[in-house]
Amino acid sequence: MDLTPEAAAARIDALIREINEHDYRYYVLAQPVISDSEYDRLVAELKRLEEQFPHLRRPDSPTQRVGGTITKEFPVVPHRLPMLSLDNAYTSEELIEFEQRLRKLAPNAHLRYIAQLKIDGVAVSLHYENGVFVRGVTRGDGLQGDDITPNLRTIRDLPLRLRGEFPLSVEVRGEVYMLRSEFLRLNQEREELGEPPFMNPRNATAGSLKLQDSTEVARRRLRFLAYFAEAEGLPDSDRAVMDLLRSWGFQVVESGGPFSLPEVLTFIESWAHRKESLSYDIDGVVVKVDSRSLRSQLGATAKAPRWAIAYKYQPEQAVTELHSITYQVGRTGYITPVAELKPVKLAGTTVKRASLYNYDEIERLDLHLPDVVVVEKSGEIIPKVIRALPERRPPEAKRVIPPSVCPECSTPLIQPPGEVGRYCPNYKHCPPQVIGRLEHFVSRRAMNIQSLGEKILRKLYERGLVRTFSDLYTLTPEMLSGIEGFAEKMPQKIVNNIQASKSVPYPRVLYALGIRHVGETVAQKLADAFPSIEELAEASEEKIASVYTIGEVIARSVYAYLHDEENWEEIQKLKRLGLQFAHKVKAADAPLPLQGKRLLVTGTFDGVSRERLIAYIEENGGTYASGVSKGLDYLVVGKDAGPAKLEKAQKLGIRMISLAELEAMVGRPVVE
Ligand code: IVH
Repeated sequence: MDLTPEAAAARIDALIREINEHDYRYYVLAQPVISDSEYDRLVAELKRLEEQFPHLRRPDSPTQRVGGTITKEFPVVPHRLPMLSLDNAYTSEELIEFEQRLRKLAPNAHLRYIAQLKIDGVAVSLHYENGVFVRGVTRGDGLQGDDITPNLRTIRDLPLRLRGEFPLSVEVRGEVYMLRSEFLRLNQEREELGEPPFMNPRNATAGSLKLQDSTEVARRRLRFLAYFAEAEGLPDSDRAVMDLLRSWGFQVVESGGPFSLPEVLTFIESWAHRKESLSYDIDGVVVKVDSRSLRSQLGATAKAPRWAIAYKYQPEQAVTELHSITYQVGRTGYITPVAELKPVKLAGTTVKRASLYNYDEIERLDLHLPDVVVVEKSGEIIPKVIRALPERRPPEAKRVIPPSVCPECSTPLIQPPGEVGRYCPNYKHCPPQVIGRLEHFVSRRAMNIQSLGEKILRKLYERGLVRTFSDLYTLTPEMLSGIEGFAEKMPQKIVNNIQASKSVPYPRVLYALGIRHVGETVAQKLADAFPSIEELAEASEEKIASVYTIGEVIARSVYAYLHDEENWEEIQKLKRLGLQFAHKVKAADAPLPLQGKRLLVTGTFDGVSRERLIAYIEENGGTYASGVSKGLDYLVVGKDAGPAKLEKAQKLGIRMISLAELEAMVGRPVVE
């Protein structure tokens, strides 16, 4: 049933209200009132209406939360008020000195403070006009920062529209952060993809906010906690402002007060014990004068306000001996150095090893062997070496020079430009890489070959029975029972599982190959744009990179993989064995009108949003390109199109068409 535009507008309005209300209940109050499937139904209805009536799309629509915007370069915008940093204190004496300074500056003031957890995340400034979130900016250099609005819209507990009564124009500041559980999940996923792990949740958050593809940011499940608001007519007490922030729909940083200084010290003490039980990392407590008028009177230095100070908890540390450094080789050849330590008690556990992340870290810490080092375990779960103690280092100690060859296969290591890590390039024969690759191939989300775990794969490898993926398909129950004391029916079951994996669809096979940078989503995109492995192999690097959201790094990796003779032979072998290397197309399905074509849109079109046009191109089998390049088939030109794009397209001889021509090619209008 089709709605009139007026009825659609009313329905969209009601849906946005309702879904935003459910988001608030779920993410802020943690009190959902509907089931996930009811929620999904509402979102699906809204999405459908927005696609049907693109001009009714609104910035506060919860459909924005899933991302979909690519930003090549974030615009730099000035801050209305500078974003300062804070002076630090490490002891209660330093806090007493802080109060003494305040007394000198404001002798008659009644000093009351609020104390707030100091979230270990990334500071951002959010702007709301008429209650709608319009812009979000990073701290940058304190005076200007990057406008990362599309990325911030994906944060579920960041209100897209304020609730209750709010000022017409308001700036809210706070911290974007990542739950520890999310951080662990992300690093596990990166490990599976052969990408270097993030050091801690803060780095992971900072890295995520800088991503160009907001769809990817949405997957990182970032969170937001507010600690500051500026607008006309706010109350004098900051405590009251925090309550207002809560009433507008924000999660607010855990706060106490207004307090006297001794009460502040009690607050700090009580959280020193409780902080490990939080689901996110904090690195201290921020102590702020509660009265906002007193704050303006006290002012700021160039670097930090005089009215606030950050008390930093000392993370739990221990001193121990560094015996040796071992080097682990991952599936993609990435080398992780690991510090082997004399066991030491730290934050309730015994620590024997600590990750050193990458080669640069060894140099930065100036590690020697043997050495005496400080290890730390703060919120993060993995202990790390934070510095060496050169004064306690034995005189015979030598600077660590990381090996320049692979510890497993002696191949000279390489360092890709712009990356901190080193890789073993002996992709084909380095044992941990081969075994890691087989493990990935059989994993649940890839070929899903059950009962074939790491232990068995290692044995099969060591006996020389399995080196390549195709070797797996030649295994017999006898070969398996020979290597492991299996229960009676197991070998046959494994062989059956292996054979059954031949029906796994093409995108998952593409993912299973373990091509660097090709995760599940990328594999799906590639399979959609190139419906068979032959089409993908025939495509130029440029053509692959021109697929929407793919980009050059992935394209280079895919191209290199498929143009390696041995890899290609292996793919042919797998294909002959019966694995799926093409999208299954039902015989009755006519090809879509834009099948195999790459299109790009420039300029604006009356009544049709960019998002709708991209969806239209994709619905009709086309691929949306990321820029003008040789691989492009059509450039759809609208009003006020940028001259640079047109010129480049002209030079490359790319066909330029109008929207009407595009609609004629497809055979149906973009807005029906
Ligand atoms: S107030 C002008 N409150 O700490 C004072 N900052 O070291 C503005 N931070 O850049 C800061 N939790 O990113 C404040 N409850 C909190 C905070 C907090 C974390 C961060 C913030 C700031 C940094 C200063």
